[in-house]
Amino acid sequence: YGAPGTKQERTFIAIKPDGVQRGLVSEIIGRFEKKGYKLVGMKMINPTKAQAEEHYADLSSKPFFNGLVKYFTSGAVVCLVFEGKGVIKGGRVLVGATNPSDANPGSIRGDFCVDISRNLIHGSDGPESAKAEISMWFKDSEITQWNFITPVYE
Ligand code: PPS
Repeated sequence: YGAPGTKQERTFIAIKPDGVQRGLVSEIIGRFEKKGYKLVGMKMINPTKAQAEEHYADLSSKPFFNGLVKYFTSGAVVCLVFEGKGVIKGGRVLVGATNPSDANPGSIRGDFCVDISRNLIHGSDGPESAKAEISMWFKDSEITQWNFITPVYE
């Protein structure tokens, strides 16, 4: 499970504290569901500083790192695992460009935010990060198993 390029490909999506506070949880999850991605993992947490630092470890030398950790730990975060064909790349398209000023209308960041340091949502940027992030935020037992009755892809 989780193999890139298959319909079992998985990505990790996090709705950041501003997304929760602004009432955008259902809107964001709905866009992924309606696209045809399968929601297999979902939980709400208050990330600890240690979790945020681990999640963003590769950015520890960036000038915005401390601010990013503070932002991510400032409230509740919704952790999601979506599964489906091309979901890592396609999920990034739904999310939109990192800087909301560059994000196209129709994408989540393009439609709902203006500031790179309050960009609502995180999505894994490739197969390695997807695998690492899913295992960091979810136990195997927290990933559910269910099937579409009518497949949306073969
Ligand atoms: S970089 O600099 O190329 O590594 O950055 P990038 O890959 O585009 O983004 C990595 C994550 O850092 C967040 N980011 C920022 N946060 C706050 N302030 C500034 N200036 C900033 N620049 C980038 C960006 O949103 C990415 O986080 P996620 O959660 O993955 O979107």
